[in-house]
Amino acid sequence: MPASSSLRLAGQHALVTGANSGIGAAVAKSLAANGASVVVNYVGHPEAADAVVKEITDAGGVALAIQADVSQEDQVQAMFRQAIAQFGTLHIVVANAGIQVDAPFIDMTLAQWQKVLDVNLTGQFLCLREAAREFMRRGVQPDVSKAAGKIICMSSVHEVIPWGGHVNYATSKGGIMELMKSVAQELAPHKIRVNSIGPGAIKTPINHDAWATPEAEAKLLTLIPYNRVGEPEDIGQLAAWLVSDEADYITGQTIFMDGGMTLYPGFATGG
Ligand code: BGC
Repeated sequence: MPASSSLRLAGQHALVTGANSGIGAAVAKSLAANGASVVVNYVGHPEAADAVVKEITDAGGVALAIQADVSQEDQVQAMFRQAIAQFGTLHIVVANAGIQVDAPFIDMTLAQWQKVLDVNLTGQFLCLREAAREFMRRGVQPDVSKAAGKIICMSSVHEVIPWGGHVNYATSKGGIMELMKSVAQELAPHKIRVNSIGPGAIKTPINHDAWATPEAEAKLLTLIPYNRVGEPEDIGQLAAWLVSDEADYITGQTIFMDGGMTLYPGFATGG
């Protein structure tokens, strides 16, 4: 899309990790619908990445699938090189790829701990660093955006809500909070905005068992005052706004989008 288009992300180029399913796919589609061309990163299931690309291009957008394991430095760097070669530069990076490998704490293996930290936290470090390098190299293009670049870290309500049985995952999200804030502080003078989105329970493959049956959904809803499980599109819409110039003065923040999950719902009737 040319920058002259009225779409709010017109003329901008984006990269979304883990964009072949769930929240990442919805974010990629939403950025594209707002005028950005989008790299759809994936590690497995190329057919799912191709389906996201097709949906975007069928709707008149521009998208490209690139395979890379975000926990591997060489693969992340190769992906950024390919994206920049294709689009010329990047203005938006959404570090979304994440996994859960759940186990009771005393049974958790070092491999389970390390795998989740590698993908969820080190993967974000590697992508943020490559994004920042490109944003600083290029600087602000005033006809495209007020900022030199915009980064979203996909966090979780579990950056603040402890989660027994998921200690590796919760630790990775707590780490993302300080990664995001520290990078935001360091890069703000360079006109780079860094924020997190903290989704609550959203209907995606990662938590399928928690909402797939009416019984499971009813149990999950006891944790959600707003009384509905979120949809990936909820997060997609927020992401498109957060990287737009409408949100130009927001940096270093986590925006929770969780139907009130972080409101300690148990205290509505107790305490
Ligand atoms: C997790 C989901 C969970 C949600 C709310 C997310 O970060 O990935 O499995 O349903 O938090 O607990």
